[in-house]
Amino acid sequence: MRAIDLNGFGGPETMSWAETPDPTLGHGEVLIDVAAAGVNRADLLQRRGHYPPPPGASPVIGLECSGVIAEVGDGVRDWAVGDRVCALLSGGGYAERVAVPATQVLPVPDGLDLGAAAGLPEVAATVWSNLVMTAGLRADHLVLIHGGGGGVGTHAIQVAKALGARVAVTAGSADKLARCAELGANVLINYREDDFVTAVRAEESGAGGPGADIILDNMGAAYLERNVDALAANGKLVVIGMQGGVSAELNLAALLAKWGTVHATNVRARPATGVGGKAEIIAEVRRHLWPLIADGTVVPVIAAELPIEEAGEAHRLLDSGEVFGKVVLRVKEL
Ligand SMILES: NC(=O)c1ccc[n+]([C@@H]2O[C@H](COP(=O)([O-])OP(=O)(O)OC[C@H]3O[C@@H](n4cnc5c(N)ncnc54)[C@H](OP(=O)(O)O)[C@@H]3O)[C@@H](O)[C@H]2O)c1
Repeated sequence: MRAIDLNGFGGPETMSWAETPDPTLGHGEVLIDVAAAGVNRADLLQRRGHYPPPPGASPVIGLECSGVIAEVGDGVRDWAVGDRVCALLSGGGYAERVAVPATQVLPVPDGLDLGAAAGLPEVAATVWSNLVMTAGLRADHLVLIHGGGGGVGTHAIQVAKALGARVAVTAGSADKLARCAELGANVLINYREDDFVTAVRAEESGAGGPGADIILDNMGAAYLERNVDALAANGKLVVIGMQGGVSAELNLAALLAKWGTVHATNVRARPATGVGGKAEIIAEVRRHLWPLIADGTVVPVIAAELPIEEAGEAHRLLDSGEVFGKVVLRVKEL
């Protein structure tokens, strides 16, 4: 088969679409003929050599894909050859075929294009596991979503709104904020011009006082102190990205005074099965979030679809910050 091959670590030019050994199908896995692969910020890090695949994962870049099941491994009962699916991967998505545990596969709802479906598994798993499973999102909560115009952000706004919460977002331009509002965001904060702590503390939390009950954070160190300040009493800060660095001082007195919690989580490094594993997250996503996708309450927000041969251009596009939502790579029409 062909897959995106890395000619050393570095810029987008290190990627080429080349012949690669086929994946081998293991027990409990399905083989997917890939229609499209979602592009994630982690892919850019892996390309530069800063985010190696976890042990046992494919060295090929790609954390999610859509396609059609081509083969079913031993012990798999719930899937059949020909099923239209999308899947959460530990790697291997930028390829014509990928093998994945059957427990990480989701059905593509009727009427949903396979290109759009490729951009769903990673954001769905990230948003549901963090906002709901980790932070316990409720309808009376105020949620602050940093990077509301990103792949994760555009999905998180819709999920939080669908569950009845009020949503505050940060973004870097008026245009992106306007589009976040169209997705349902209530409080719009331009992080280049406004202080998000002041803006969020002007709102009432579900807990009754000022601030956000939950903060979904992509900035890490750069925002740690201000995120703690922006939390409401009993608030939960969930760090999922470190775009602003990995190391910062945490004022425990400030956190303790509002009996707050700081979580830091990652989907890719989780085991396939067991408590908190990928199978558990995907099962929860399928049970609770997938009906909202099937009925159109939560829609994929796809900024651009490029042919897989232009993976380098797709990485440049995501890196430029000029996209609203997800970028996907089309491997073939299925
Ligand atoms: N832990 C996990 O399991 C997991 C899973 C998936 C993603 N992630 C992480 O989550 C983050 C978002 O992922 P993504 O796929 O949505 O990436 P993305 O589409 O590239 O979005 C990145 C976002 O960062 C925002 N941003 C940049 N500077 C900012 C600042 N100073 N303040 C607030 N926002 C800022 C951008 O906003 P503007 O464009 O408006 O400037 C953009 O919305 C990334 O860091 C990614 O690595 C983690």
